[in-house]
Amino acid sequence: ALQPLSAAKLTIEKTADPKPLKEPHELVFGHTFTDHMLAIEWNSETGWDAPKITPYQNLSLDPATCVFHYGFECFEGMKAYKDANGDTRIFRGDRNMSRFNNSATRIALPTFDGEELLKAIAEFVKVDDRWVPRGQGYSLYLRPTLIGTQKTLGIGPTSSALLYVIASPVGPYYPTGFKAVSLWATTDKVRAWPGGFGNAKLGANYAPCVAPQVAAAQKGYHQNLWLFGEENYVTEVGTMNCFTAWVNEDGVKELITAPTTDGTILEGVTRDSVLDLARERLVPQGWAVSEKKYTMDQIKKAADEGRLLEMFGTGTAATCAPIKRVHYKGEDISVPLQPGKEAGPVAEQMQKWIMDIQYGVEEHKGWARH
Ligand code: COI
Repeated sequence: ALQPLSAAKLTIEKTADPKPLKEPHELVFGHTFTDHMLAIEWNSETGWDAPKITPYQNLSLDPATCVFHYGFECFEGMKAYKDANGDTRIFRGDRNMSRFNNSATRIALPTFDGEELLKAIAEFVKVDDRWVPRGQGYSLYLRPTLIGTQKTLGIGPTSSALLYVIASPVGPYYPTGFKAVSLWATTDKVRAWPGGFGNAKLGANYAPCVAPQVAAAQKGYHQNLWLFGEENYVTEVGTMNCFTAWVNEDGVKELITAPTTDGTILEGVTRDSVLDLARERLVPQGWAVSEKKYTMDQIKKAADEGRLLEMFGTGTAATCAPIKRVHYKGEDISVPLQPGKEAGPVAEQMQKWIMDIQYGVEEHKGWARH
């Protein structure tokens, strides 16, 4: 029988040469890495090997390795936070583990017991605990990665794989407070399509986002907005999920985001957190909360009729990213912000609610385990 992934088999080799920590203000997203990494090898004959924590090091792979040719790669993004007691909390890691397994399944990579991987990750975070930065907005970004490692140009399921986790201390996405972004609605390319793999966190979904992002930047916009179909359904913003708040055609205040039912939308952990908190805390205030398709023309109409309230992106990196303007078919649509602020009230409230849970100021459904 194939061996299951087991955290009990974990071995730890500590570095003899710990690196100096960066000053918090020097942290640039994804540039600094901790002293160690976690790695677990898999092969089709024996299953998962013992997880190993080792000094952070290069990988050595044959140039024919399938990850380089056919994109056998999926990953996760999750964060560990220091609470006021100095305890380290990992935010909703169970959601990342189930998405990681779904992504692996989509590209025929091996799956694993998510609880066991999460235990091994928690041990890894313990070993590199001095790298978890303290303070509001600071966290240790964790990057679980799974690659196919068979040496072959033949295309088929890989006979070996490597699951590894690296960690990067990160500062607040907006060091000086929220900074609302402008978007260019991309109408000549699509990110994902029904039955495709846009719902999986595959590296293959990210590289093709860069050219449209550069095109948006060249036109003076921060990010691009991804649409789908002749209807121009609003799907995602850059690498984030997208939320819109408006007074809908029935005169009801509604927080709406695209549904995850057709495979075009990533099942964002922050997306799910915003929906959960909105259902718990905004619905009693008279809001409707919807996971439903909606179009750019509906946004345009709402803006023209003064019904558009706000828009924001959600992701692990930024939590909430307020949107101030969307360029669509030759025209800039203004998205309201609060007077003198760089965010609408819903994005601002959500950011606070979620951060309070991440840093253990508030306990909510066991989302921030320590
Ligand atoms: C996000 O957290 O918004 C992401 O999509 C992570 C990004 C660095 C790939």
